[in-house]
Amino acid sequence: MLRGKTLAMIFQKPSLRTRVSFDVGMQHLGGSAIMLGPDEIGLGKRESVADTARTLSGYVQAIMARVFAHQDVLSLADNASVPVINGLSDTQHPCQAMADMLTILEHFGRIEGVQIAYVGDSNNVAVSLAQAAAHLGGHVRIASPPGYMFSEETLSALDEMARKHGGSLAAFYDPVEAVRGAQVIYTDTWVSMGQEAETAIRRPIFQPYQVNRDLVRHADRDAIIMHCLPAHRGQEITDDVADSPQSVIFRQAENRLHAQKAILVTLLQ
Ligand code: CP
Ligand code: NVA
Repeated sequence: MLRGKTLAMIFQKPSLRTRVSFDVGMQHLGGSAIMLGPDEIGLGKRESVADTARTLSGYVQAIMARVFAHQDVLSLADNASVPVINGLSDTQHPCQAMADMLTILEHFGRIEGVQIAYVGDSNNVAVSLAQAAAHLGGHVRIASPPGYMFSEETLSALDEMARKHGGSLAAFYDPVEAVRGAQVIYTDTWVSMGQEAETAIRRPIFQPYQVNRDLVRHADRDAIIMHCLPAHRGQEITDDVADSPQSVIFRQAENRLHAQKAILVTLLQ
């Protein structure tokens, strides 16, 4: 479907899943991908983000970018004449959310009405998960510590979106409240890429939000466990939960490939 087409992959941060699944996805579809790591193009340093977008548009049919500042992916999109895919920014991870929705859909046969609890940092993965689930009528329950919860503005935008589509949004400081009766328990790292200097401060604050067997007991008996990976085993998730029969984390990782092939075909065909 994408014979002869090329995807440029800009990475300012490390990646396993995003890098490999986009590259393999392009190969499956008959196209190819070019890896542009931080030392190769020096996005915004060697030349401006806008000039990078304009130049790449003459060579490739789409650009996927993993950046720090969300503004950089917006600037690529504003200045490229080819589609730009956000492969994670400091504030969003939409490709992850597409794979997450596919995983929930495969398991429950629907997203509408499913009780989805996210426990941990209200970060890029959490916001994209909440936005996607709210758009599709899911019931989203967020548990984050004070100071690490979505802003009131984000919560009310998510709430409005969820209501419009027949779902709901609820926020808690108590993780037990958030997972009570949940059909999905989702967590992510306590320290996202770029926040490494905050590790020592964050660990004790997030410890009560660990997804462990005690917490999972409060969820629906058949709840599934999700994590975007990489997992920090023994921190945000324990081994017994990550490796339990309820865990779908590697299916979820595999679904990055399938969901992104759909994104690529939609944008490039
Ligand atoms: N979940 C995810 O985006 O993984 P990578 O950082 O390995 O791409
Ligand atoms: N929240 C994490 C997700 C990694 C895929 C980060 O931004 O580092």
